[in-house]
Amino acid sequence: MSGHNVWTHKGTFLLAAVGSAVGLGNLWRFPYLVGEYGGGAFILVYALTIFAVGIPILIAEIMLGRTSRQSPIMGMRHLTKTHHTSRTWESIGWLGALAAFLILSFYSVIAGWAIHYTWLMLTGSLVGADAQTISDGFALLLSSPGLMTVYHTLFIAGSGLIVALGIHTGIESALRIMMPALFIILLIVLAYSVIHGDIAAAADFLLTFNLASLSIEGWLQAMGQSFFTLSLGMGAIMAYGAYMTSEVSLTRTAIAIAIIDTLVAMVAGLAIFALVFGAGLDIAQGPGLMFVTLPLAFAEMPMGALVGGVFFILVLGAAISSSISLIEPVAAYLVERFDMTRPQAVAVIVIATWAVGLLTVVSFNIWAEGTFFHAIWGRSAFELIELLTNVLMPLSGLMIALFAGWALTQTEVKKELDTTAMWFAMWRFLVRFISPAAVAYVLLRSLPFMDG
Ligand code: PFF
Ligand code: NA
Repeated sequence: MSGHNVWTHKGTFLLAAVGSAVGLGNLWRFPYLVGEYGGGAFILVYALTIFAVGIPILIAEIMLGRTSRQSPIMGMRHLTKTHHTSRTWESIGWLGALAAFLILSFYSVIAGWAIHYTWLMLTGSLVGADAQTISDGFALLLSSPGLMTVYHTLFIAGSGLIVALGIHTGIESALRIMMPALFIILLIVLAYSVIHGDIAAAADFLLTFNLASLSIEGWLQAMGQSFFTLSLGMGAIMAYGAYMTSEVSLTRTAIAIAIIDTLVAMVAGLAIFALVFGAGLDIAQGPGLMFVTLPLAFAEMPMGALVGGVFFILVLGAAISSSISLIEPVAAYLVERFDMTRPQAVAVIVIATWAVGLLTVVSFNIWAEGTFFHAIWGRSAFELIELLTNVLMPLSGLMIALFAGWALTQTEVKKELDTTAMWFAMWRFLVRFISPAAVAYVLLRSLPFMDG
């Protein structure tokens, strides 16, 4: 038997999982979804799903990784064998790998935009620019497939390099430097937004719950977001869990991950909305919120170029620590299954995702309309990929919940979770009934909205 890899320290799993969780989902996607789907109401649904669906599935996913001690695909194969259950469950590993692959392909393109903005900010190019100039600038970036491809290439190559160096020299060392720096930057940006923005208006917007303003699409988005933000259903957490030592409390760690991730999203939301409200700008900007509205707010503020530049470095760092967790599960699989070296495995993944990422690149320009994707599904390739991942994540999450709650031998699950009888009973109830029901309900309700 080959000896398995483990993290160097007890706390490394938490560090790595937080690195995976905290990313564009918190800094870019969460704020714009909140802006688009009605502020507090969206946050309420989101918080509910994090608690009733996200945390139970997070616990389940870490547990699957830690008991199997293998990459998600091989690990699921191993677990179905040793627990004598149906081989259908093996699809959890494959679904996750597919979702991870698709997410990475567009994640890298969007993180690439952050490279562009870090540069623009730090060189002071946007100082004093007006709204028209800044939104024209973003439009110009989106209309340049060449430029976007350069950034996309840089980002995916950088992420790949870290994973290729291995889980200790690469992933652990990178996270140990990046994560503390990210938290410090986040606090600096928050302080800056308190001084120069309208924090009261931001808090008011985030905390006013008006459920009536939430559409069914809003519910689906909130649920998709809770999976996305916690990195669920993609094998990322399972792969990291495989390296987690047994003496660490699994449940406590999972709850800590969810709390830290939610706090980061809320703080980022507060800071971004405070700056945007303070500058008297519109928050319902969709994906452009971070790349148009926020730079505009910074452009008008004292030391805005510097703080803005630092903010985009934060975005980049958070994105890298997440993208490495998307590469790891598939890389580990290729190494286990085909005896590849780690750098070979990473090269295969990076080249393949890079190529698929080009579909996202062109979705903003030469393929923005009138393509075969529009003709059949009424959306661009990028929108289609995003929608697909919004369905794949809950689907694989649903299967993880059912597998952990119903198919696995519960005495072994109990041993692995190692918590009080009450917490175990509560987790089991959530993971057997509540999480699957909630996920299935939202998935079914969203079907009509899928095709148009
Ligand atoms: N959780 C990350 C974020 O919020 O940006 C995105 C992500 C990373 C999703 C890794 C899935 C994953 F496996
Ligand atoms: Na996140």
